[in-house]
Amino acid sequence: MKKKEISKIIVSKNGPYLISGKLPLDKQIVVEDKDNYPTRWKQGEKFPLQEKYALCRCGNSKHKPFCDGTHMKVKFPGTEVASNKPYIKQSSKTIGPDIYLTDAELFCSNAGFCHKAGGTWTLTQSDNSKARATAVQQACNCPSGRLTMWNKKTKKPIEPKFKQSISIIEEPTNNISGPIWVKGNIPIESEEKGTKYEIRNRVTLCRCGKSGNKPFCDGTHVEINFNDGDKDLQ
Ligand code: FES
Repeated sequence: MKKKEISKIIVSKNGPYLISGKLPLDKQIVVEDKDNYPTRWKQGEKFPLQEKYALCRCGNSKHKPFCDGTHMKVKFPGTEVASNKPYIKQSSKTIGPDIYLTDAELFCSNAGFCHKAGGTWTLTQSDNSKARATAVQQACNCPSGRLTMWNKKTKKPIEPKFKQSISIIEEPTNNISGPIWVKGNIPIESEEKGTKYEIRNRVTLCRCGKSGNKPFCDGTHVEINFNDGDKDLQ
């Protein structure tokens, strides 16, 4: 019997993300409430399952989210500057009564789930258990894993359950296209550095080409109004 290839992502040097191991690919849409706070995710388009594919990292492909080779024409400067240090070594802590929040700001993808009801940091420290439950939900909705909530007693992270899969994030109400959401502990390797990044349940990878923390998203797509041209999301 043919052995299943281990799923992984290779960040190619100045080129695309090379995905292997039959990883499902879809779009996930940020849904905002009436006050324009992001509150939940909506399933978007599902792409046909492929053994291997290449996702654009430079932001210039005419066939997004896939690479069409344009990165060579534009001489994409894709140098990876992200640290290989574990997330926990890059994060600060906010301590509440029965939970605590870790926060590594460098990974922020500006999805904005942490803003509502006074913000995840304030809610974490609240005496009100409902407020703390909201903080947990907000941290779990953070696609980049910048925010991670922990159980104070067990010292274990409170993580959403994900199957190994990849999602393209879209924010139609702001007309902005977001990063690549990597879910379910998929290994990410750097071709340029010859190293592996820490394997995490959720991270977001840059696809506008402009992040200052490549290969990870740092929210720059919001500043530059990155849009992949998908008009069909609402
Ligand atoms: S990385 Fe190949 S076209 Fe963008």
